[in-house]
Amino acid sequence: MTVRPSNRGDGPTVELWAAWQPGTLRDVSPTPRPLAAYWPIFGLQLATPRLVLTPLQDVDLPEACELILAGIHDRAVMPFAVPWTDGAPADVVANALKFYWSSRASSTPDNWSVQFTVRRQGVLVGMQDLRGKDFAVTRTVGTGSWLGRSHQGQGIGTEMRSAVLQFAFDHLRADRADSEAFTDNRQSLAVSRKLGYRPDGTAVLRRRPGERAVEQRLTVDRSTFVRPDWMVQFRGLPACLPYFGL
Ligand SMILES: CC(C)(COP(=O)(O)OP(=O)(O)OC[C@H]1O[C@@H](n2cnc3c(N)ncnc32)[C@H](O)[C@@H]1OP(=O)(O)O)[C@@H](O)C(=O)NCCC(=O)NCCS
Repeated sequence: MTVRPSNRGDGPTVELWAAWQPGTLRDVSPTPRPLAAYWPIFGLQLATPRLVLTPLQDVDLPEACELILAGIHDRAVMPFAVPWTDGAPADVVANALKFYWSSRASSTPDNWSVQFTVRRQGVLVGMQDLRGKDFAVTRTVGTGSWLGRSHQGQGIGTEMRSAVLQFAFDHLRADRADSEAFTDNRQSLAVSRKLGYRPDGTAVLRRRPGERAVEQRLTVDRSTFVRPDWMVQFRGLPACLPYFGL
């Protein structure tokens, strides 16, 4: 008897499986529908003058791994509170993959996150995340980001953070956005300063074994956000509102 994955009879997968001979190998992976039909956040898209941001999917991961392996920062410094870029290359990418799968799977309307891929002329240049905890009540988002080293220093970090801030303030109706960076992370602090963030206290962390570092916390409101001279374009939001707890 032919085993069919679906009894709906409405897609190429069913025809493919009907033609399958047990004991033979064949390609059974065509997607009858985009995954966004079942997981709406995958249909979200933001665009800026130079960049397109879409939630990370598995198809993006090989490119993300290449970018990570090519290097995100000078190994002498550590910009991340969790030092995930330290270690042997195979461990670094394995941990990154586990982090991205786990963060996607653990997002809930009360504690959500979106890991956006950032593409310039189709090429993956980095990642920009946006997070919200009890967002319907707190109206506060958090952000984090990184770019491959060869893409840094060209205003891309500012443009991608500005994109998710505009999206959050204007379309998710956030009131406030928080961020943080170690006090020696001049680039990240400069991006925050340019966008209107103000200091919001510090914390002392152990960032690498035996290494003490001071983290600067930052915050910006909808009214103090320094807007660029362009507006973020977006599509696919209505179906995603429940994802954001809205
Ligand atoms: C942080 C990061 C995302 C910023 O992206 P970016 O594209 O490099 O940033 P931009 O080019 O938009 O802006 C960087 C700003 O920092 C400034 N800057 C760079 N080096 C600096 C330094 N040593 N001292 C002071 N300012 C500095 C630049 O002049 C620029 O400001 P300007 O546009 O006013 O001239 C990127 O550098 C990165 O991925 N770094 C490594 C990972 C990381 O630190 N992630 C954030 C963790 S909190």
